[in-house]
Order: sequence, then structure tokens, then C-alpha cells
Amino acid sequence: MDTQEKTNYDKQAIIRELMGDDEYKLFETLENFSEMLMRYNSAIREIRTKFEVLNDDLSLRNSRNPIESISSRVKKPISIAKKLKRIGYPVTVGSIRDNLNDVAGVRVICSFVDDIYSVAEMLAKQDDIEVVCVKDYIKDPKPNGYRSYHMIVEVPVFFSDRKENMRVEIQIRTVAMDFWASLEHQMRYKNDNAAAKKISDELKTCAETIAATDLKMMELRKRIENQ
Ligand code: GTP
Ligand code: MG
Repeated sequence: MDTQEKTNYDKQAIIRELMGDDEYKLFETLENFSEMLMRYNSAIREIRTKFEVLNDDLSLRNSRNPIESISSRVKKPISIAKKLKRIGYPVTVGSIRDNLNDVAGVRVICSFVDDIYSVAEMLAKQDDIEVVCVKDYIKDPKPNGYRSYHMIVEVPVFFSDRKENMRVEIQIRTVAMDFWASLEHQMRYKNDNAAAKKISDELKTCAETIAATDLKMMELRKRIENQ
């Protein structure tokens, strides 16, 4: 046993002695959880870097930034637990890995609609990326008007003693689609009456107006480029 292992072992023995068996089990679960969250955080860093590199390279080539901004989050443990319970799976590290695709999330905000498809394709082609699934809510918007390009990918992450393929949910959308999605998220409410129906119809009309404007902006950019 090396020194590090011995220290870990001693620490565990002491903690176990201080706690009852039930408390120790809970402590172990929490320890596993924080290690798991660290792993998802690392996967997010890998994906963010890939998009940053693509943005730098494309900016040099085209003298404009296809990516406006990137944000990311690791799902909160309470939301992880709630979602697993809702879909009927146990709340364990193994179950999270097998049943959830959105523990690690990266959102990429692009300038124009065609930039979304360019960066998505460039990422998908990288030989260490495996695309698990794609949902193109730009081509097929959700009934409420939501538009965004979603990918679930697996990326290998190298840790001290092993390599692990980690899943990341990527949402790619324009500034305009993001503006709509953020406000729709804030205004989401559950009333089911005539007034609520009218509001959701109007929100959908807003999404369509925004989509038309997105296409117009792209057309204007292309006209400028061709001048
Ligand atoms: P979840 O179980 O909610 O994660 O959905 P899913 O597994 O069916 O995947 P989907 O691709 O439909 O949605 C994934 C994520 O996209 C959601 O967690 C939201 O962040 C976002 N999203 C999907 N639909 C909407 C919507 O109608 N409005 C907004 N604002 N965001 C949405
Ligand atoms: Mg989700």
C-alpha cells in the first residue's frame, strides 16, 4: 500500500468510526457524487475548448466570430435526483451514467443560423467525438415554437488512472433563438384556460417572427459578403 492509499484508508476508518453505519453510507454516496460531478465538469471543459478552438480558427479565416458566447452547467444534485425519481430509476452514480444525458450541459450561442450547422458538423467530425443523438428543433420546431439544435455527444476524458467516455448535452442556437427560449422559460406557467392558450399562441407567433428575422439577417450577411 503506498502512502497516499494508506492515508485514504486511515481517513476512511476514522470517519467510519466517528459516524454510524447509515451516516457512513450517506457520506460515501456524497463522496461518489462529488467525484462524479468533477468528471462531468472535466467533460464540459473538453467540449468548451473544442468550440473555443473552432471559433478562433473560423474567426481568422472569415474575419468574424461564428460563436457569440458559450455557457455551461453541471446539473444540480437535487435536479438529478428529481429527474431519476420521475423517470423511475434509482439515484446512484451508475444509474446517473446509464440513464441521464444532460448532467453536463453546454450551450453555444451562434451569430447566424448557418453557423450552427457549421460548428455542429465540425464538432461531430472530430475523431474523438461520438454523436449519440441529434434533435434538430430548427428544422422541426417544437409545437410551442422552441428552436435549437441539440446534440448528445460522448467525449473521452483522461483522468489520473483511466480514460472515461463522458456524455454531454450540447444546445446550439442563435442569439435570437436564445432570447426567445430564455424568456419563454421565465414565463412558463401551467394554467390551462382560454387566456393561457392565447398567450402560448402569441409566444409561438413571436418564435416565428424571430425565426424569419434570423433568416433575413443571414441573407443580409451573405449579400454583404458577396459585394
Ligand atoms: P428534458 O428531459 O427536459 O431534458 O428533455 P428531453 O430529454 O426530451 O430533451 P430535449 O432535447 O427535448 O430538451 C432538452 C433541453 O432543451 C431542456 O432541458 C431545455 O433546457 C431545453 N428545451 C427543450 N424544450 C424547450 C422549450 O420548449 N423551451 C425552452 N425554453 N427550453 C426547452
Ligand atoms: Mg434537460
